[in-house]
Amino acid sequence: MTERSEEVGRLVAATRALLRFQGQLGLQGVPVAPEFMARRARVEPVVSEPTAAPVAPVVVPAATDPVQALVEIRTTIGDCKRCKLCRGRTQVVFGTGLATARLMFIGEGPGRDEDLQGEPFVGAAGQLLDKMIAAMGLGRREVYIANIVKCRPPKNRDPEPDEVAACEPFLKAQIRVIKPEVIVALGRCAAQTLLRDPTPITRMRGHWREYQGIAVMPTYHPAYLLRSPSEKRPAWEDLKAVMKRLNLTPLPPKGVAPGAPK
Ligand code: URA
Repeated sequence: MTERSEEVGRLVAATRALLRFQGQLGLQGVPVAPEFMARRARVEPVVSEPTAAPVAPVVVPAATDPVQALVEIRTTIGDCKRCKLCRGRTQVVFGTGLATARLMFIGEGPGRDEDLQGEPFVGAAGQLLDKMIAAMGLGRREVYIANIVKCRPPKNRDPEPDEVAACEPFLKAQIRVIKPEVIVALGRCAAQTLLRDPTPITRMRGHWREYQGIAVMPTYHPAYLLRSPSEKRPAWEDLKAVMKRLNLTPLPPKGVAPGAPK
């Protein structure tokens, strides 16, 4: 074999390996250099039961520092095209807050405001969530907030199973890095999706559950609470149970007696 054909053989093998790796990341086509040069979390396929449907890959960041590990996960997501939600979104809404938070809130998916600003729960529902967090004696930057899917579903519809399946490995990786003691599942979609349980949220809320070995408290979504203020009281009871578990003492919001967030 000539030197040139050896060189071509090596290039072909390297390109094949690159495309295989890309495929594992859910990417298609030849990568652009800067994106591909960024450090990415490893994506490991899961060995599935012989009869099971294909299982989503596990995303494993290399960094041990949680902030760096979250950056790696975000880098791996890149300009994601793994599901059809990429078509209508402005940007990926990754998640926000403390990388070592004891408490994590998980909503459904970005709405219009979140899609535009790139941060979860920044619209009207987010303002109520901020009040709920404050009533627990915490600040938005002391917890971690994420969603089941990271891209806005068209017209704010529920995320579909293929979209959840494409996005969940990244949420799982975030949870594994953050290691919260408690997850609050906000609303039907988050609770039913995380817990793989179709029980209505009216029956699920207020009862401790578990996700990946972490305690989960399902409660009402703040957007629902804005439409149904009478449900704020039970939602506050759910948050009080969370506070008890985390040994948190509520700070009465300025000029407001301790109790349900207004
Ligand atoms: N509703 C959600 O479920 N998540 C957001 O980020 C905003 C609104």
